[in-house]
Amino acid sequence: MLSRRLSIWPTLPLNVYFRESSSWLPYPLSDSGCRVFSRARHAIWNACRTLGLGSKDIVLVPAYHHGCEIEALLQAGVSIRYYEVTELLEPDPVSLQSLLTPNVRVLYIIHYLGFPQNAVRWRQWCDERNLLLFEDAAQAFLAEINNRPVGTFGHVGVFCLYKTYGVPDGGAVTMKAPPARPTAALQSGRWRVFKRHVNWVAERSGVIGSLHLGIKPMVKLLKKKNHNPHKEFELGDPFTPPSAMTMRLLSKLVDRTTAERRRENYRFLLDHHRHLVPRPFLSLPEGACPFAFPIESNNADDVLKKLRRFGIEGLLFWRNAHPSLPANDFPLSMAFRNRVFAVPVHQELTQSELYQIAEAVHLSTIQVKHKNQIARTK
Ligand SMILES: Cc1ncc(COP(=O)(O)O)c(C=O)c1O
Repeated sequence: MLSRRLSIWPTLPLNVYFRESSSWLPYPLSDSGCRVFSRARHAIWNACRTLGLGSKDIVLVPAYHHGCEIEALLQAGVSIRYYEVTELLEPDPVSLQSLLTPNVRVLYIIHYLGFPQNAVRWRQWCDERNLLLFEDAAQAFLAEINNRPVGTFGHVGVFCLYKTYGVPDGGAVTMKAPPARPTAALQSGRWRVFKRHVNWVAERSGVIGSLHLGIKPMVKLLKKKNHNPHKEFELGDPFTPPSAMTMRLLSKLVDRTTAERRRENYRFLLDHHRHLVPRPFLSLPEGACPFAFPIESNNADDVLKKLRRFGIEGLLFWRNAHPSLPANDFPLSMAFRNRVFAVPVHQELTQSELYQIAEAVHLSTIQVKHKNQIARTK
């Protein structure tokens, strides 16, 4: 059966070249303290260097993280200390308090999946202890708290542009005295633009979608031969600017309705599958800009495999923690890593594609449940 292929990454419409550039730019792109690099990890590295942080300065970082932000901090020369998150994915105040020593300088918080943390509270917590607040909004570009953008509450805000729009790269930082502009050679970004166009076509055509779904595992298998699970954390050259294609296309893609469209798609899936959603993501705050729709399962890998059969390329993100994390000391974070995966809610999805996702989640979870029941009764 032919199947359109839907992934959590925003796709790039073919007609983007004919669109007008927007005169409106969302925060932080409109801010004078904003600098754009190729990746958010470059932005993090540059922020630490600009603040003059060194090995004597300790950054409190969450045990639930991607890994590349941790690597960027370490490469920038700072020391880190891990804190545990609560069941609601907030920093655990008890864990934080126990980690405070005189050389702690920064609290690093992550706005998971575009859902804002209580940044006002954490800024106050930092102010009371004379600490800096880093807001990692890599998954939360366009998210707001009471009409104020995330990233404006901390001393540093970091954003990924390509997670929200179909551009090839782009990581922004905003701070009062921003780093110098990136100086390394400009990359074109054309290959990644091509791939995002293919993804757009695969979302609309069953033939291309099925081809894509068939070819991808083969490419993955080839890549797996030399697989290094920590490669995705590598910093690369921190002075890399955003690609030429990102700079050309971004202003044609930004739109004031993006966050609301993502929220609408999220609400649609929440109405169908509330019982599968992990607690921190059960109620959608007004200012959230969901990056994806999270699903919790004891059999995440099996459900993901089934979803692919229905054309849905879900993502079990953050399975591998940064190697510096003593994983056994952080059971709550590890439970999120093993059990939570995500399906798409991006703004390019059509109504019929949302139905495809909802139906696929329904069938996949039921099929895995039945398979497990049968296995148990044998
Ligand atoms: C929470 C978080 N911070 C930072 C980053 C770094 O983003 P980039 O891949 O653009 O360097 C990521 C990437 O996935 C992330 O998830």
